[in-house]
Amino acid sequence: MPKPEPRPRICDYEGSNYRTEFWEGRGRDYEDRVERIAVRRLLRGGGRRLLEVGAGFGRLSDEFAAFDQVVLLDYSFSQMQYAQEYHGRSSHFVYVAADAYHLPFKAGVFDAATMIRVIHHMANVQKVLDQVGRVLITDGVFILEHANKRHLKAMARYALGKQSWNPHSHEPVEFVELNFDFHPQYISEALQGAGFRVERRVPVSFFRVNALKRSVNTQVLASMDGLLQTTGALVSPSIFLRARRVELGPTQLTTASIFACPQCGGDLLQQGDEMVCTADLNRYAIRDGIYDFKSPIGD
Ligand SMILES: C[S@@+](CC[C@H](N)C(=O)[O-])C[C@H]1O[C@@H](n2cnc3c(N)ncnc32)[C@H](O)[C@@H]1O
Repeated sequence: MPKPEPRPRICDYEGSNYRTEFWEGRGRDYEDRVERIAVRRLLRGGGRRLLEVGAGFGRLSDEFAAFDQVVLLDYSFSQMQYAQEYHGRSSHFVYVAADAYHLPFKAGVFDAATMIRVIHHMANVQKVLDQVGRVLITDGVFILEHANKRHLKAMARYALGKQSWNPHSHEPVEFVELNFDFHPQYISEALQGAGFRVERRVPVSFFRVNALKRSVNTQVLASMDGLLQTTGALVSPSIFLRARRVELGPTQLTTASIFACPQCGGDLLQQGDEMVCTADLNRYAIRDGIYDFKSPIGD
């Protein structure tokens, strides 16, 4: 009997009021402003439908007004309730509680996606990027933010022997449970593996220092950050990037991605020695190197 792949651990925000506990009145206006500058810099124009993966309470959703529809998705049902309170009910916003590792969408239904302040909670980066790649159309735009392990403070601390992990090595560092910093090269390679081409990377949040934020006017600090974003010096704590879903020719498709569910036609994902349908959840065994689609496991 093939062993099912263990489910990736999830950083569960259920019940937390992320909006009031982290953002509102918490001295993070600077971060909010510089992130909006980066998003506007990377995402020009609109389209039919944008997916926000890990949207939280929809802090940034108003930035995507040029899209006909914005689909907010979060693992936490309560974040979706807060988002609904914040942005209201309308056909422009769709709220979905679901796991980003198992996106409940057909392939190629979004022309853009964002994932901001989310991937640092992901223990399986490749798996979640594969999912985003699957639901985007060819040429679809993906705006991704990730926490950067190779930032100035980490490099200085490492050089002075005050930090054990090496900010220059490519593997992720989990500094608190389910909180990861990533090397920019690691993220680029994972994106490439998921069928993306990275077009532009922008370093963000250079002045994330409480003393500075308290003493310098927020607008001035954000404008200075906006200028530094254009340098491309990837030494800030946060990196925003724009990647594009490339068209995969038949020779570039992975073996797992050529199959469709024989029962419902849905997409199949390989999990260990099984192919699992993302639509009807039927599972098919891979036994001794043979894909067995004659009947689902358990039938
Ligand atoms: C730090 S918040 C960021 C929210 C929003 N993107 C922002 O920038 O304000 C991270 C969000 O990711 C969500 N999240 C974490 N793991 C997830 C998963 N596996 N699937 C969907 N959402 C997830 C959490 O519920 C949380 O709302």
